[in-house]
Amino acid sequence: MLNSLISRRRLIATGSLASVGVALSRFAFGQTAQTGAKPTLSVVPAYLGVSPQTLPPLPYAENALEPTISARTVGIHYGKHHRAYFDNLHKLLAGTPLEQASLEQIIVQSHDQPTLADVFNNAAQAWNHNFYWNSLSPAVTAPSAKLQAAIERKFGSIEALSKALVATSASQFGSGWGWLVVDRGELAVVKTGNAETPFTADLAPLLTVDVWEHAYYLDYQNRRPDYLVATVSRHLNWAFASANFERV
Ligand SMILES: [Fe+2]
Repeated sequence: MLNSLISRRRLIATGSLASVGVALSRFAFGQTAQTGAKPTLSVVPAYLGVSPQTLPPLPYAENALEPTISARTVGIHYGKHHRAYFDNLHKLLAGTPLEQASLEQIIVQSHDQPTLADVFNNAAQAWNHNFYWNSLSPAVTAPSAKLQAAIERKFGSIEALSKALVATSASQFGSGWGWLVVDRGELAVVKTGNAETPFTADLAPLLTVDVWEHAYYLDYQNRRPDYLVATVSRHLNWAFASANFERV
């Protein structure tokens, strides 16, 4: 379902800084989208409290996920790629009505707005990466009893869910993300392309894995499934997923 939603919502235009500035100056924050219904923030886990102005700290040391993900990969991924999305967003939003909005609000307001494609892409990538770092844990974690029961109802076991998450994430063509979400009360595994994020389709994210090549290429080269199997089996943060599940 999500893939069809995302394909319909694929952003096709890229605005220059100047055109984005003009677009934002005309954009009354909070207004209803001109094309179709806007997604809501009802499924967004706002606990992260992410400001569009500040790159949040990495929740662990750069070498904490070794040997699954090297300190070099995490250092470049967080310090260069993730930081760049925030830096780009600052430039795009400077002097616009969205400058003081939350990152989640910026994502919702810019989604499916062709003239705001750069804003959406950088804001959503900033948010997705915040979610990704928190979706991983150096320590072994376990789901809450409530989430464990939901996993067993839907997938049979946590191993079966992990297998589905790896398969779905590995099958993303090109850059994107694999997600465990809640879709209208049911757990589901979905994938999104490029910067797309599930909450714009009213799916509540519980966990994500990054399948952009920058997430794994230094360590695994073209072996994306190996990166996924190792990461999903060793480092998913089930405590984070459980907390998210409580808020759905
Ligand atoms: Fe990434």
